[in-house]
Amino acid sequence: MTFTPVDKPPFAITTPLYYVNGLPHIGSAYTTIAADVVARFYRLMGHPVLMITGTDEHGQKIQRTAEERGVSPQEHCDEFAAGFERLWGLLNIDCDRFIRTTSPRHNTIVNEFFQRLWERGDVYKGQQQGWYCVSCEEFKEERDLLPNQHCAIHTNKPVEWRDESNYFFKLSNYQEQLEQFYAEHPDFIQPEPRRNEVLSFVKRGLQDFSISRINLDWGFPVPTDPDQTLYVWFDALLGYLTALQDPSEPPSLERAVAKWWPIDIHLTGKDILRFHAISWPAMLMSAGLPLPGRIFSHGFLTKDGQKMGKSQGNTLDPVALVETYGPDAVRYYFLREIEFGKDGDFSETRFINVLNADLANDLGNLLNRTLKMAGRYCEGRVPEVDPQTIAADHPLRAIGLSLPETVAGAYSHLAFSQVCTAVLSLVQASNKFLDEQAPWSLYKQGKQAETEAVLYAVLESVRQAAYLLSPVIPGIGNQIYTQLGFAIDFDDKAIGQRISYGDHAAWGYLPPGQRLGEAAPVFQRLELPEPVASP
Ligand code: MSP
Repeated sequence: MTFTPVDKPPFAITTPLYYVNGLPHIGSAYTTIAADVVARFYRLMGHPVLMITGTDEHGQKIQRTAEERGVSPQEHCDEFAAGFERLWGLLNIDCDRFIRTTSPRHNTIVNEFFQRLWERGDVYKGQQQGWYCVSCEEFKEERDLLPNQHCAIHTNKPVEWRDESNYFFKLSNYQEQLEQFYAEHPDFIQPEPRRNEVLSFVKRGLQDFSISRINLDWGFPVPTDPDQTLYVWFDALLGYLTALQDPSEPPSLERAVAKWWPIDIHLTGKDILRFHAISWPAMLMSAGLPLPGRIFSHGFLTKDGQKMGKSQGNTLDPVALVETYGPDAVRYYFLREIEFGKDGDFSETRFINVLNADLANDLGNLLNRTLKMAGRYCEGRVPEVDPQTIAADHPLRAIGLSLPETVAGAYSHLAFSQVCTAVLSLVQASNKFLDEQAPWSLYKQGKQAETEAVLYAVLESVRQAAYLLSPVIPGIGNQIYTQLGFAIDFDDKAIGQRISYGDHAAWGYLPPGQRLGEAAPVFQRLELPEPVASP
């Protein structure tokens, strides 16, 4: 049966476009998981959704990495971009658009966009002098550098002095307009502490920034001066526009912004917030385009309390992690454990403890033992209980009644950890309820109706929990729904058109009498790996 939802507005979300100077790290996986979860939640509610990710392939950093490897930049990019796509597959992330900034269609959009800024009179030639961090692909202010001219983010890399004639974008023209926009749209930059950082930075006075480089081949030529190459960040931000256009249509800026623009949410790490919250809106104002809905900046991940980095030798390989523990475990841990917007830590012990407690014990065992009882006491069917007859103050129904609103609010504020704890509170209450009511003993006493009432309430709570958590743990959601007798696939992008969000999010939807599936553990307990014996 296909359900036809009321028309919902389109919703678009992006991750940053990742540099292909190395394989994807856990930071890139973190943002992309978050974007996928939001996209899945909006799909569940029946919105047309476009989730965009991709790779940022131009610039000096990539050119140098390719040279060091002895391959052409394009060969290098092809190889590394494939690594990103592979990881997204492993993490059960099915993006709608994967944009690569070296694609010829992107060049067309970049040229058109540049032309708009040029015609507006916002581009001029000037002299660029300053310290450049190739790893950030950004000029740094002297006062922000560490002693010995090192970048504060890439502490092992000295910045390089540049003195060249470049094209500049008149960012300073947009000082007032930006400040007015921030004031009128207090939710534009989130979370609040990040917004305050941006506002105080802007208040100090905006300076024009160079949008081209000389002596760099790896990038698109400046349309009005092919001796110069467009700055990688100028080109990269425009990737968000190129990604919007249906790849089967010939590229044009007008068509690119026809359906999905303005994008609802750009997710970024805190190190690249200024590009997204200051440069990008000013470029869009100059091009005469409306601004995106919000820019949400998340924190940084550390490992065992230490900053992660190749030089520290403590990087966390997302491919190894997902191959060992599976996609739902990785997705759940990072979103449940770390408040989105704040810094957070990965420790394998904590990872295993959280997953065993929440997914294996609280959720998985609850379903397993309740299903087995329903098999024995109710002939393998959902108990014949009319949910309308269950009192509104029933301990589980009471939680289930307010849960959809709490969870929807938390998803739309990207408060993933709150989503998980709110849903888990229903699961924990269900375990307590089951133990207190002891349906096995009710059954022995011949109290069939009471037994069924208990089992219905618990099975229904597990169903509601699985549905509301399905954007975070779609694999487990699918298994739970199958075991409860549904034929529904949470990986189906048209899910919001097939089933009603209103029906499934609400407590009391589980159809009485529905044949249940086979009980099987939905999440295997994890064991801490054996410590490696020292030689
Ligand atoms: N190419 C630019 C983005 C252009 S968007 C038009 C870029 N790429 S990146 O690959 O270096 O970084 C991508 C994202 O990873 C950034 O949002 C950055 O904040 C994030 N992270 C890098 N290290 C991180 C952690 N240790 N933890 C969490 N996120 C981190 O910047």
